[in-house]
Formats: sequence, structure tokens, C-alpha cells
Amino acid sequence: MSVRRLAEVQPASFEFTPDNRAWADKQIQKYPLGRQASAIIPLLWQAQKQNGYWLPKPAIEKVAEQLGMPFIRALEIATFYTMFNLEPVGKFYIQMCGTTPCMLQGSDSIKTVLERRVGPPHKVTADGLFSWIEVECLGACCNAPMVQINDDYYEDLTSENFEKLLNDLAAGRREVKTGSQIGRVTSEPVGGLTTLTELWGKDGRSGPGRLPKAEAEPDHAAAADEKAYQDAQPGAEAPLHTQMSQSQKQRTGRPESSVAGTGTRTERPVEGEGKKADDAAQASTPPSKHTP
Ligand code: FES
Repeated sequence: MSVRRLAEVQPASFEFTPDNRAWADKQIQKYPLGRQASAIIPLLWQAQKQNGYWLPKPAIEKVAEQLGMPFIRALEIATFYTMFNLEPVGKFYIQMCGTTPCMLQGSDSIKTVLERRVGPPHKVTADGLFSWIEVECLGACCNAPMVQINDDYYEDLTSENFEKLLNDLAAGRREVKTGSQIGRVTSEPVGGLTTLTELWGKDGRSGPGRLPKAEAEPDHAAAADEKAYQDAQPGAEAPLHTQMSQSQKQRTGRPESSVAGTGTRTERPVEGEGKKADDAAQASTPPSKHTP
């Protein structure tokens, strides 16, 4: 990391606007008495925003005074975090990601545009509109290459759409769009879905386009028969499918035939697997005298 120093040319003083002062007071109140210094990051950040995205020495002094801390402590923080700009930046401050995913997707061509249009990094254009620096990953790799301009991300850049973006910003056009510049919604696949293209039933059996079966009505006659069977065999274990049914009811509060809550929402079912499981459960049931 390069040495970070305060700008040579500094304003004479800095004062928060009344609104920002009230906002700063609220931040300070979030911390217990004696711990007000903990509010330094948000206060420095607000001072930077108020001052055209860079932090002059009088602003750092003002924040230190407000928080009752030595200036050197505040200066240490301002010079440590690269989110604080210690020199003036352009009205549109561009942070270009040059980390591997963006580089593989063509960030070099974005850099070429910046060098041609804006000039070397850290220098503000003569009209005061632009300055840029190269930064590490900004966490939008799936829409690479990308840049951050002030508070917004601009993604899926090409040299053409980036040049147009700079033109639109310079012209003050309102239609400038943040996010993907090729119309993607968030980070959806560029060429449409290739996997998980169909919705499978929650039960893992109903297949695409079919809704899960409605819950079956409880079969009172079968339940009475089951009870009679068990009463005739005191001490006998309940049949397997009855145990499973009771266990499921306890877990979900739903009858066995319910398909909800089986937790197989997006898995492709193995053909016939459900039927095989049903057959196995049926086979494990002892022959019943009450079954015709
Ligand atoms: S590598 Fe550029 S946003 Fe992550």
C-alpha cells in the first residue's frame, strides 16, 4: 500500500452543515459515555461526503474535537483506511476493479478508456468532473468487469458502454443506469437459464408443471380397523408404516399423505423411487385379518 499523506493544499476551516451536525450527534449518542470515539468512522465518512468525497485536515481536526480525542488518533484512522480520500477527487470519482475476475473479463480495456479520457490515476480532470484509481475486488465479480462511481456500481462493462457511461455522466444525463450495463437483472445468467429450468414438486415426485396433491381426507374407517388390529395383539409393535405415520405427524403436525415439508423442493426425483418406497412400506406391513 502506498504512503498516504494529507493534500498539500488545504481549506482554512471545516464545519458540518446543521443537518450533518445533527446526524453526527445522533451517531455519537449510540455509544456509552466515554466511548464516543467509536463514532469516528461514520463521522469522518460524513465529513468526506460533505466535502466532495475527500477529507481535508480541518475536517479531521473538527471530528477529533467533537469526539474528545487527540488529533493524531483521528489522523491515524483517516490515513489508514483507503475509503478516506486525502486529496481532492473528481465530481465522479471512479474506482476501477483490477482484480483477477475483472481482469479476465476485460478490465484492461476499461483502464485504457480511463487513461485516454481521464488521464493518469489520482489526477482530477481540468473540468473537475472525473478522477480514477484502481482498486481491489469490490465484490461484484459475477458481473465483471465493473467500476464504482461515487456510491454506485456499474457492471458488465465494455469499452463501448463504459465510454457512453462517461459521456452521459459528463453531460449530466438523468437516464444513466446503475448496475448491469447489458440489461442483466442482478447477476442472472447472461444467456438465460441452463439449469434448474423447471420447478419440481416439493414432494420430489410430482414433476414439473404439476402441483402437489391436495392433502387426503383422514380415513376414519381405516384408522378404526388399525386400532382394532392393535387391540387384538397387546404388546405387539405397531406396523412400520403406522410408526412412520405417527412420527411424521409429531414432526410436522400433518398426515402422512401431506407433501408439504418433505424438504425435497428442487431435487429431481429418481424415476419410480417414490413408488418403490411405497411398495416396500406395504410389504413390511403384517397381513391384516381386516384387510379384504
Ligand atoms: S474481481 Fe472485480 S469485483 Fe471482484
